[in-house]
Formats: sequence, C-alpha cells, structure tokens
Amino acid sequence: MIQLIRGFKDILPEESSRWQHVEKTVRALFEDFGFREIRPPVLERTELFKRSIGEDTDIVEKEMYTFEDRNGDFLTLRPEATASVVRSYIQHKMYATDPVRKMYTIGPMFRRERPQKGRYRQFYQINAEVFGIESPLIDAQIIVMLVNLFSKLSVSGINVLINSLGCPGCRPNFKKNLSDFLALKNELLCENCVRRSRSNPMRALDCKVPSCREAVAEAPSIIDSLCSECSGHFETVRSMLEKQGILFEVDKRLVRGLDYYTRTAFEIQTGELGAQSAVAGGGRYDGLVKALGGPSQPAIGFAIGFDRLLEILPAKEESHGLKPEIFVAALGSDCINKAYLWATDLSMAGIPSEIDLSGRSLKSLMKRANRLNAAHVLIVGEDELKKGKVILRNMETKEQHSVSIDGIVENIRNVISQ
Ligand code: HAM
Repeated sequence: MIQLIRGFKDILPEESSRWQHVEKTVRALFEDFGFREIRPPVLERTELFKRSIGEDTDIVEKEMYTFEDRNGDFLTLRPEATASVVRSYIQHKMYATDPVRKMYTIGPMFRRERPQKGRYRQFYQINAEVFGIESPLIDAQIIVMLVNLFSKLSVSGINVLINSLGCPGCRPNFKKNLSDFLALKNELLCENCVRRSRSNPMRALDCKVPSCREAVAEAPSIIDSLCSECSGHFETVRSMLEKQGILFEVDKRLVRGLDYYTRTAFEIQTGELGAQSAVAGGGRYDGLVKALGGPSQPAIGFAIGFDRLLEILPAKEESHGLKPEIFVAALGSDCINKAYLWATDLSMAGIPSEIDLSGRSLKSLMKRANRLNAAHVLIVGEDELKKGKVILRNMETKEQHSVSIDGIVENIRNVISQ
C-alpha cells in the first residue's frame, strides 16, 4: 500500500469542519479590519525565497523543497507566503493606485524540518500582510486583531512577546557588538552559529541548541542599540497595546527565523505544544518591497500556524460536524428509484439529505441513520407509496409524521421547521 510522505498528513472529513470553522472566523474578522484575500501560487522561483528570507537562515539553507524544472529554472514549494505576497504587490503594481493594501491568505506551506508534534513538512498558515503604512499604530492594530482572533476562537493561555529589531541605520552597530561578543563564546556555540557569527550573528539569538542558549544569555540586547526613530516607534507600539488592554512581554531575544524583519517583531506562544511553542509570528519588513525590486514601501504582517492553532482549539469547537437533516430509508428498488428523486430535490432545496442506495433492511438503514446522526428519517416502503403518504420520523423525539407525497419537499420543510 502506498503511504503518505513523512511529515505530510491528510485532513480527514471528520476534522475538516474544525478547519472551516476557524477559516470562517478568520475571514469575517480580517475583512472587518479591511483585509482582502489574495491567493498566490504555491510554487515560485527559488530566488524569491533566497532573496527575501535570507541565505543564512535554516529555511533557505536546509528546509526548502527545491527542484530544477525541465527548462533549467529552479523552483521551490513556498516555505512561507510573505515573499509571494510582496512579489505580487510589486508585479501587479498595487502600490500605483493606492500603496496601502491589506491582504490575507490561507494555505499550505512546505518546509523539510524534522517532523514532530506541531511540526510538519506540509503545514498551513493564515497570513495577514499590510503595505504602505509607516505608523506604529498599524503594528498595534494587527497585534490587537490577532489577539482578538484567539479570543473569538476561545483559545486561552497564550503569551504575546514583542521586540524591536531596529533598522538598517542602527542594526549594523548592534550586529558588530553581538559578533564581537559571540567571538568570545566560540567554544559554546554550535557549528552553525560559529559559521554565522560574522555574517548573520542575530541567528545565534534564535538557536535552540542548549549550549548556544547558554552562550547568548548575557548577549547585548538590541533594544539598547536602537536609534531614536526605532526606539520611538517601539515605544508607541507598546503604549498603544497597553491602552488597548493587550498583555504582552518584551522579549529581547526574539529575533524570528527570517531575515527580512525590521523594527517590530512579535510572536504568540502557548505552553500547550511542547517544543513547538510559537503559534503565530510576524513583524515589520520595511525594506523587503524595495529589496525585491519595488518602490520603497513599509510593510508588516504575521502568520498563524493553522495546524498548531487547531491543536490548542478547545474541544467544544468540535461540534461543527455536518449531519443530514433527512436520511431517506427506502425499501426495495421501486421505492429507491422514487425516493432518489425526492432526496435529490431536498438537497437542491437546501435541506441536507442523504439516501441509502444499498437496498438493505429497515433495521440496518436505521442503524446507519443513527451513525450519521441524522435529525429525521424518511421511511419509504411499498405500502407508503401505495397510500401516497410516507413516514417522517424525528430521531430525537421519536415522533412520527405522515407526509403526503404530493409536494413532498414543501411538506417535509413544513414539518421540520415546526
Ligand atoms: P514563521 O515564524 O516562520 O513566520 O511561521 C509562522 C508560524 O507558522 C509559526 O509560528 C508556526 O506556528 C507555523 N509553522 C512554522 N513552521 C511550521 C511547521 N513546520 N509545522 C507547523 N507549523 C509551522 C513566517 O512564516 C512569516 N512569513 C510570518 C510573517 C508574515 N511575517 C510577516 N508576515
């Protein structure tokens, strides 16, 4: 038997109603905040991710699914969506009419990480991206929107962590100080961090290797190196969040795993997922539109790990499964042929219906109706057909109605809406 690829999974019919419930909540909330959906493709040129996420990151160095196309192009299954949304913003000159754009997208991402609970090789993200707004108030607003989503979904026990990563003005100085600091800790650092400590020393702050964590415990903090503009920006974000009643923590070690961030960076963490504690992450990327060939436009966004969000969604949200309103139990082929037409008409009339076409006994049909959790069973036998009336049984109250075949869809609607 051919099995799934490791790190990939099926979202089964029993589970998909939970996904739909979250999606519905996300769409309604994001649209209330002025976001519109964008659906970029899952395959892009490899160069797009190398230039945006950064060559010295785990994602680009070892996690991308990349292949050479038949014409020699290098293509990659997207490991994240931000780069694609930026590409689209530039390619379609969205900035020309109104540089302010708010877009969201929901879909699969691919990273060849070591699979474990909460970490998959195909996983889903809910992304929101805002372009063209420099004001720190938008930073606060998208964090408020994100926190509000968690509360709308009744997810509790989350922590909001924020930090500022500075700008091209103040960051080089910090990087140099950090690099000098790391040079003194070489013997504690893992191979990757030693290699990156000159080119991209901030990655060491994010490394999960215990000895690296120990090495950076006393590392200089970027917050102490911010220029006055970055520091003022961060101050406004914090005070706005406080005003709006959002509990957060400033985490000076928070650097995020992608290189495009500037200024505000944030993560939502939960204690419920073991090692994979980040359920959402994001930040500003004011330089990315320009770096990818567009005009200089500020931007900010975040992505929620959809799979992880579902793992911490309270169980009560599970009762969104679909069930038939009418289960048609027809006995014998004549009855099935007739009742098949009614079942089809019921579904077309917006009344969720299911007919069993197997020709099984009434007893086994009733068993199946119970298993499907049907609200009503329509019993159609030879006698009923002759009389021109069929039986509609309410499975909860056990009440039975005799329903005339003439105008059956409306007759059934009348009974079930009583
Ligand atoms: P990220 O932190 O790499 O950011 O991913 C965002 C979220 O995706 C993580 O917090 C996590 O919940 C989920 N995630 C990441 N990798 C996996 C995995 N292997 N399995 C399951 N879930 C995973 C980004 O991707 C940025 N593009 C976010 C962003 C948008 N920044 C600005 N705009």
